[in-house]
Amino acid sequence: MPDNTTQAPGPAASDSTSGETDAILVAENITRTFGGLTAVDVDRVEVPRHKITALIGPNGAGKTTFFNLLTGFDQPDSGDWWFNGRSLKGVGAHKVARMGMVRTFQLTKVLSKLTVLENMRLGATDQVGERFWAAAIRAIWRGQEDAVTVRARELLARFKLDHMEDEFAGALSGGQRKLLEMSRALMVGPELVMLDEPMAGVNPALKQSLLDHVKQLREEGMTVLFVEHDMDMVRNISDHVIVMAAGKVVTEGTPDEVMSDQRVIDAYLGAHHETDLTEDHEVERMAEELAAGSTRKAEEDDA
Ligand SMILES: Nc1ncnc2c1ncn2[C@@H]1O[C@H](COP(=O)(O)OP(=O)(O)O)[C@@H](O)[C@H]1O
Ligand SMILES: [Mg+2]
Repeated sequence: MPDNTTQAPGPAASDSTSGETDAILVAENITRTFGGLTAVDVDRVEVPRHKITALIGPNGAGKTTFFNLLTGFDQPDSGDWWFNGRSLKGVGAHKVARMGMVRTFQLTKVLSKLTVLENMRLGATDQVGERFWAAAIRAIWRGQEDAVTVRARELLARFKLDHMEDEFAGALSGGQRKLLEMSRALMVGPELVMLDEPMAGVNPALKQSLLDHVKQLREEGMTVLFVEHDMDMVRNISDHVIVMAAGKVVTEGTPDEVMSDQRVIDAYLGAHHETDLTEDHEVERMAEELAAGSTRKAEEDDA
């Protein structure tokens, strides 16, 4: 039985006995301001379990910020949210991932100076638990057939990156990095996979394969929430679409409903795509942040 001692308005509102789809993630009254700017001001969002939900909206709508808040990479000014009925308020990013909710980044965070396989192993360490990190940096695994390596290789094979396991991630194309990041996210065996612009910077030849991979996640029983500007992708694979503009949810519904909505058409007029910046210095900066954060976390854990 779920713990009902803290009667949460979020999960309680999803009535699984009514025959309606239940929500794996519920968020209420989430706000985040940066100085005078309200980046996110969401009254209520429900992400239906076992479905693919698209989160769309023009640049600056607050989609990435909303992702950051939900996954513990940033803290809201107000609001509550629940994953599988458990409050995530105040829960850090690593714990959120351990609970089964993982995300990828609009700007991919693959580490270019590490090999593809090392990136995968780091996916397990980075998101499974920081204690592994210490072992990771001692680089004791080369050639080892431990459980993490086995899982990493299975996933690489599935994403057709297995032939590149010893290549530096920096040598991958933009699309391959997206695939690597997605496969890395799967290292923890998540229930909810959140993808921030998975198609950005992906060349057309890889797009279909990426679409198929996302659909495959749903077939395997996972729930997907993705941010995307590519309307073909949204129309093709989403069961549900949520539209954000200026921090708020403007409308939601099936892809057909949403795309015939005049407000959505208006919001997209003049909207242009962001470029995917995967410059080395950016990746290196993130690597440094990741390493610094991990060391910090390991120290906290050991304290
Ligand atoms: N760390 C930050 N500091 C200040 N402003 C930010 C920060 N992150 C995002 N913003 C602002 O919040 C708004 C929403 O940004 P973002 O969530 O990235 O939108 P989207 O992903 O929908 O394009 C934008 O106006 C952006 O400039
Ligand atoms: Mg964004």
